[in-house]
Amino acid sequence: MMITTLLAMRDFSRMREIMTILSKHGLGEFVQRIKLSHKGVRGADDEAASNQRYMSTPRRFRLAFEELGPTFVKLGQVLSTRVDIFDAEWIEEFEQLQSDVAPIATADIRVLIETHLGRPYHEVFKHIDPHPIGSASIAQVHRAQLVDGDIVAVKIKRPDIEPTIQADLRILNHLAHLIESEIPESRRYQPVQMVQYFARSLAKETDLSVELRYMQRFEATFAGHPFVHIPKIYAEYSNRYLLVQEYIGDKLLKNVPSESLAADTRRMLANRITDTLFTMILQQGFFHADPHPGNIFINEEGGITLIDFGLVGHLSSTRRREIIDLINALTHRDQFTMQYVLSNWAQGELPDENLLGADVLEMLLNYEHTPMRDLRISQVINDITQIMRQHGLTLPGDLVMLFKTLITLEGVVKKLDGSAEMLEQAKPIVAEVFKARASPEHILRKSKMHAQTLLQSLDELPQNLFRLSRRIQKGQFVVNLDFKRTEQFIHQIDKATNRLTMGIVTAALIIGSSIVMSIDTGPKFIGFLGYLLAFTNSLWIIWSIWRSGKH
Ligand SMILES: Nc1ncnc2c1ncn2[C@@H]1O[C@H](COP(=O)(O)OP(=O)(O)O)[C@@H](O)[C@H]1O
Ligand SMILES: [Mg+2]
Repeated sequence: MMITTLLAMRDFSRMREIMTILSKHGLGEFVQRIKLSHKGVRGADDEAASNQRYMSTPRRFRLAFEELGPTFVKLGQVLSTRVDIFDAEWIEEFEQLQSDVAPIATADIRVLIETHLGRPYHEVFKHIDPHPIGSASIAQVHRAQLVDGDIVAVKIKRPDIEPTIQADLRILNHLAHLIESEIPESRRYQPVQMVQYFARSLAKETDLSVELRYMQRFEATFAGHPFVHIPKIYAEYSNRYLLVQEYIGDKLLKNVPSESLAADTRRMLANRITDTLFTMILQQGFFHADPHPGNIFINEEGGITLIDFGLVGHLSSTRRREIIDLINALTHRDQFTMQYVLSNWAQGELPDENLLGADVLEMLLNYEHTPMRDLRISQVINDITQIMRQHGLTLPGDLVMLFKTLITLEGVVKKLDGSAEMLEQAKPIVAEVFKARASPEHILRKSKMHAQTLLQSLDELPQNLFRLSRRIQKGQFVVNLDFKRTEQFIHQIDKATNRLTMGIVTAALIIGSSIVMSIDTGPKFIGFLGYLLAFTNSLWIIWSIWRSGKH
């Protein structure tokens, strides 16, 4: 196979390793199915079968991915967002993926920082804590103090991860091609495209300057906000490999046991977190896409600080309008709007509208006795994605990210306040978006945009007219007509004119013959001949009209 030959020789040993690991976890059948190997994995499979006989396939994949290392762990985390493809069992397993990476050696940290800063360490830092406060597959975070006394958190990208990631991505691409060619039912999920998408998002996550830009944007949006804080960024010390930001001394939500907070505080925090994310999603169209409790700091006053902007979602204004329409459709149990939005979202082949309509109706009927405040977002998303799966429809990337964010958000909020009514909380934000859209400023802004486009074309109008008139003057004005149709048209006119002429001639013959016949002395023979001719003509006209009517 061409791809096999394209796969560099240097990747073969890694490929063998991947095969062995997959087989060890009882996935030899999968390896054989994609024709990676026909032999040599049996023994491993037997061994696997003995101790993993009762383990589910999703769990086997999870364990294999963990053993396969950072790229596969990240891949699993990305797959855990594909609620439109995998059911809950798979998602839960993928979510549990933990990267088991050793921290960067303390002695290396200083060297790394100096290399990436391009100047001696002491010019910038007074001190850096050698124990990481956070460590993951791509970066690790240290508490430090700048020379001016500010306490900061320094995120350092792991050294030497790039070559492994690149090799793994090449292999993944190869595997995706094999899966697509050997497992036909996988094609509608476009595995090759999925790997490409994954490679792009990984490239963004491994470049800390992307996170820096996102943070700056959120910082500007939330400047002066009464309860949302975004850590201040030290852009002068940050780059692709380093991200220096204000150290947040509050408590991470994941380290705060819910029982330790007063009920009122919990409710307030739940409301505020929901409000913040809904505002980002529905109003700003730019949102934190990983709002789990390890990325949210809280304080006694109910202040919230968001960190970790490696994963950020964008929603176009059209998309936001669709989401708002969907929320409204849910509120009013409006089957048609819901169906319309869902078929708009479908990627690839168009769904069968009748079947889709029936499923949407059934879903809405299931909600009939559930008041809006008791409706869970995850339930709705689950139902929607299930319908989409049944119809073989996949979701576009931005929505996949949004759905995953909403599910994470609901988990966090419900843990804080079990009685939180999240969809109810969306209502005022939706109303505000509507109000803003109808506001004179918005209309003025939109009209200005339209006017600008119009003015631009008006601006070009004299020039275009001038070009046109010159062409006409030079006799170069060409109009492209569809001659096939024109010829047909001319032919029809021709036929109609002939019939009309014949009609007039026939009428003239009848009148003329009648005059001749009425004169007693006239030649009766000519009159008779005239009648005969008129009669034949009439027959021809009737026949020709009857024939044209048949075409
Ligand atoms: N500005 C900060 N102030 C205090 N602690 C931080 C800060 N940024 C990160 N951390 C700590 O480092 C951990 C990992 O940082 P994060 O940005 O979430 O990276 P990752 O992408 O690896 O999850 C966080 O869970 C938190 O404990
Ligand atoms: Mg994090």
